[in-house]
Amino acid sequence: MKNNFWEKLKKNGRPILALAPMAGFTDEPFRQICSAYGADVVYSEMVSATALYYQREKEDNETLRLLKWNEAREGKYVVQLFGSNPDHFAVATKIVTEKIKPHGIDINFGCPVGKVLKQGAGADLMRNLSQARAVIEATLANTSLPVSVKIRAKSSDVDAVAFLKNISDLKVAALMIHGRTLSQGFAGEPDYAIVNKVRPHFKGVILINGGINDRETAERALAESGADGLGLGRGALARPWLFAELKEGRDIVYGQTEIISLLYRHAKLMSELKGEGALVEWRKQACWCVQGLPSASRLRSRLVQVSSLNDVTNILQEYGLND
Ligand SMILES: Cc1cc2nc3c(=O)[nH]c(=O)nc-3n(C[C@H](O)[C@H](O)[C@H](O)COP(=O)(O)O)c2cc1C
Repeated sequence: MKNNFWEKLKKNGRPILALAPMAGFTDEPFRQICSAYGADVVYSEMVSATALYYQREKEDNETLRLLKWNEAREGKYVVQLFGSNPDHFAVATKIVTEKIKPHGIDINFGCPVGKVLKQGAGADLMRNLSQARAVIEATLANTSLPVSVKIRAKSSDVDAVAFLKNISDLKVAALMIHGRTLSQGFAGEPDYAIVNKVRPHFKGVILINGGINDRETAERALAESGADGLGLGRGALARPWLFAELKEGRDIVYGQTEIISLLYRHAKLMSELKGEGALVEWRKQACWCVQGLPSASRLRSRLVQVSSLNDVTNILQEYGLND
């Protein structure tokens, strides 16, 4: 394995801060925003290994376009693949390594969405130990980049310890563990202490994930888990500046002026990098971000209707935008 950036980040002696993969959200513009606030590692949205396999003859295909990134403006970039067929992972890994050239490749073992489970992928692959191992082996054999895995505390009768024991001889560089079980979905208390149980069975870097929304939960997650770092999910959607708070060790209060200016910066990046049509996706993140404002519900009802940067500018100017 060349360039194991995970180990280098660990040597910095402070918790590694990662933007967890989130389909529909962790695209290039949002990754750039989080990187600017101090995210050390940013994961792509999950992409299908099978789609990459079937589009392998097409130089410029839709899935590869989704993975586009900007080396100067993003932290360490990790592309996440989902699927269940080792042959598809072998080809997809090669394509991503050669054409996208990220810093690392991650495999999804946690997704609870029906159409992903139906393919034997995501959390379904976590509970299929022999197939999971074959997928990891195929990925490792086709890249020199560090390979990581993202799992849940438990999927059916397979818990994180059983999963990691099954691959303890493989050179997996890092693990992000969502401290909730598959049956918990995205709600309920995550088990941060699970890291203590998995540590003896995994040699790489460990990040804990789930319910980390502010400094208090971040400190608790680190204290209870002893993890090497944190994976921030919905906490970063609502407050991307959480990365700066954690890095600087202080609360950062964002009022209306700062939030409006951040929303505008994000909308501008969206239309520059993905075209104005992508503002439909921006609306979702904007709704997360305005949560705390006194005028949130009226602002939200207007933002969900925008279809151009001009619309965004006009609305945000009414709320004090002066960019
Ligand atoms: C909208 C959304 C999309 C997600 N997409 C992915 C994904 O593509 N890959 C993945 O491994 N996890 C995905 N997740 C799970 C998150 O990475 C994370 O594990 C989960 O949200 C728990 O962290 P949180 O409580 O901080 O949000 C997604 C979560 C959300 C809310």
